[in-house]
Amino acid sequence: MEAWLRYQQLDPGLAEQYATLPAALVTLGESTILKSAQAELLRGIRGMLGRTLRIENRLPAEAAIVLGTVGAVHRLDPNFKTVHELQGDAYVLMSANIRGQSAILITGASDRAVLYGSFAFLRKIAQGERVTALNELQSPSASVRWVDQWDNLDGSVERGYAGKSIFFNNGQVHANLARAAEYARLLASIGINGCNVNNVNADLHILDPDFIPQLARIADVFRLYGVQLGVAVNVSMPKATGEMETFDPLDPKVVDWWMKKFNEVYRQIPDFGGVVVKADSEGQAGPSAYGRTPAEAANAIARALKPHGGLVFYRAFVYNHHLDWHDLKADRARAAFDIFRPLDGQFDDNVVIQIKYGPIDFQVREPVSPLLGGLQKTNEAIELQITQEYTGQQRHTVFLVPMWKEVLEFNLAIGGQHTPVKDIVSGRSFRRSTGGYVGVANAGLSPEWLGNRLAMANLYGFGRLAWNPGLSSEAIADEWVKLTFGTDPEVVGTVAKILLDSWPAYESYTGPLGLQTLTNITGPHYGPAPESQERNGWGQWIRAEQDGVGMDRSVATGTGFVGQYSTTVQKIYETVTNTPDELVLFFHHVPYTYRLHSGKTVIQTIYDSHYDGAARAQEFVERWKALKGRIDGESYEDILAQLRYQSGHAIVWRDAVNDWFQRTSGIPDDRGRVGHHPHRVEAESMELSGYTAFQPASWEGASGGKGVSCPEERQLCSAQTKFNGVAGWYEVDVEYFDLSGGVSVFKLFIGNQLVDEWRADMVLPGSAPSADSSVRHRSKKLILGPGDVIRVEGHPDRNERAPLDYIEVIPVSRASSD
Ligand code: GCU
Repeated sequence: MEAWLRYQQLDPGLAEQYATLPAALVTLGESTILKSAQAELLRGIRGMLGRTLRIENRLPAEAAIVLGTVGAVHRLDPNFKTVHELQGDAYVLMSANIRGQSAILITGASDRAVLYGSFAFLRKIAQGERVTALNELQSPSASVRWVDQWDNLDGSVERGYAGKSIFFNNGQVHANLARAAEYARLLASIGINGCNVNNVNADLHILDPDFIPQLARIADVFRLYGVQLGVAVNVSMPKATGEMETFDPLDPKVVDWWMKKFNEVYRQIPDFGGVVVKADSEGQAGPSAYGRTPAEAANAIARALKPHGGLVFYRAFVYNHHLDWHDLKADRARAAFDIFRPLDGQFDDNVVIQIKYGPIDFQVREPVSPLLGGLQKTNEAIELQITQEYTGQQRHTVFLVPMWKEVLEFNLAIGGQHTPVKDIVSGRSFRRSTGGYVGVANAGLSPEWLGNRLAMANLYGFGRLAWNPGLSSEAIADEWVKLTFGTDPEVVGTVAKILLDSWPAYESYTGPLGLQTLTNITGPHYGPAPESQERNGWGQWIRAEQDGVGMDRSVATGTGFVGQYSTTVQKIYETVTNTPDELVLFFHHVPYTYRLHSGKTVIQTIYDSHYDGAARAQEFVERWKALKGRIDGESYEDILAQLRYQSGHAIVWRDAVNDWFQRTSGIPDDRGRVGHHPHRVEAESMELSGYTAFQPASWEGASGGKGVSCPEERQLCSAQTKFNGVAGWYEVDVEYFDLSGGVSVFKLFIGNQLVDEWRADMVLPGSAPSADSSVRHRSKKLILGPGDVIRVEGHPDRNERAPLDYIEVIPVSRASSD
């Protein structure tokens, strides 16, 4: 729950330096935000240093920690000077002299800045940093630092992997908003200043007259921490609510409808932040219904918000999902630029175009969206995805900060100038009035907010980067680990390293070389399903044919997507030879035998990368185990279980993708691994009692294209095989399917001895066996001898018929590899 705000007691060695910290805390002002800042300092210092600060209403005759805006400090001491020019959310931490008393001053232009400074001050202590002789100005890179939540009013969360909504339930806002308040506190601690609370596939009733007061209650708790409330709206609302006959943005009556609507909103929520709009996208209504442009739609809403200071975040995620896959010129990646670039300069100045980092959809790797450089007379925000929709859904640890850093540092070279994405979105490159960052967070009621403790590093990292994109991934990882698990160098080093290695590992065992994630794009976007990319209207094609693989997006022979970049960037991507290996198949169609810059062929790289990535996922488990006793027991066990699951699922990924490419290309693995698993016994080839074989919906969803399951609900099934290896220590891995329809029990016997037993009780997508639901269970070390019978017993439960895929009997010395 506390996430990185644990304020755990500092190591005495580190705490010592704070013995001289002032005992008094003076807050110059009464606002709720300042009260939050004060409460936070009390709480943090009490937790970390075991001391309770004394609250004073006026400056005492002793040193003090002073919280207040620059204006308030001036009123107290007209001689007070700071060299810093403070604006917006920027804060200063300084050792000051106020009316002759020495003070640690936490100040800024606004109360919110003071709150940010307070969190920063506590962050320093948690990391054992010096707080004497301070003189530090921190200014945010951008004014927009928002998160989006894709929460539905019924309490579900689209692409949320951490339980139900913290805002809504059953069509209403929760009566108790304690979690929402805690969320605002977490967000504020990393400088996030706005939150859209509902799904971009917006509920048409979000701004109904009886709902606005409910939203106002969320705004009330957000306000304690300076977080502005926003909501997602649907452009058809004027008509869909039955009040108008049209939602044509150029119809003055429609504009009037929005005006009245926002007047009503601002009467109840005076600091309402604005709205996010998804239109003409994936079935959502849009201005195209009236032949109007996104600019016309955005401006109609923006003009109604303008008098109140609200923003419209208009999403550039607009594309046709009924593309003709036969058409070699069709390209979904082109859509955002083709649609929005001609409108540059037509958007009002309180419109922000919200652009996903890549031209497709939050894949494990994409080139930077060319639209980020295509708008120079329009405000922009980059949309990043904290919720790990295509990156393991929080069941895989994937620290996304290194990916975001690559995107933010990428130089789009507009007009031949150095224009990295971070400078474009901040508004610096093209002198825009506003801009910044939106992260799709989808935190939920899970005690860990994002379900998996390590995933919280992504939320933390998003906020830190939005504030300062110049921070390195290493620095962010290090900071987060210290705040979350303490300063033990062994812990910090190990956890930070796991985090930093996790995205490359995930990319390796999912979709390397720019193939995109290769997950099931027509299903839950989770497990491997390469075939799902192809031969449908969604346009995530990888064009894996027998002759080769990859999508030709060059200007010369392909879809022309490359032409959307500046000439400097075109030089990188237009030719196969200049394109970096990690994106080569995003931009080019090449034979499987094409040799990459690495010197290896494409197909062998695909195979090797999957083996390598899966092996790295196994190593995470071993590295984590070295921390036993150094991390609180509950976190240790939870993360161990998560990493173990991940290491098993990485093997599912490896095999499904490799088998699929081997079948598609007809080219075997040089190293003989793909399709040959020396320790594996397929369930369908074991001696079965009760179990019958099945084929999953897509063949690569089970090893060997088959699994076994019990035909009946009330039946005990078993699969057995005789061990014929040499006597010694072994681990037995059982690959089974954990479905949503029940909780089967599995038992493992050697001869008549029960050696292991477990329940298939994970929450995974899918009610039929597939690579989404495939789970590996590893038994403890066992002694096996020739002739021993290994038997897996499956006890079905309701619709989950104890499905099994295979077993693997692995000599212990090799347990971590194949
Ligand atoms: C992805 C995601 C959808 C979401 C969409 C969006 O495609 O799968 O659930 O609605 O992005 O960003 O609008």
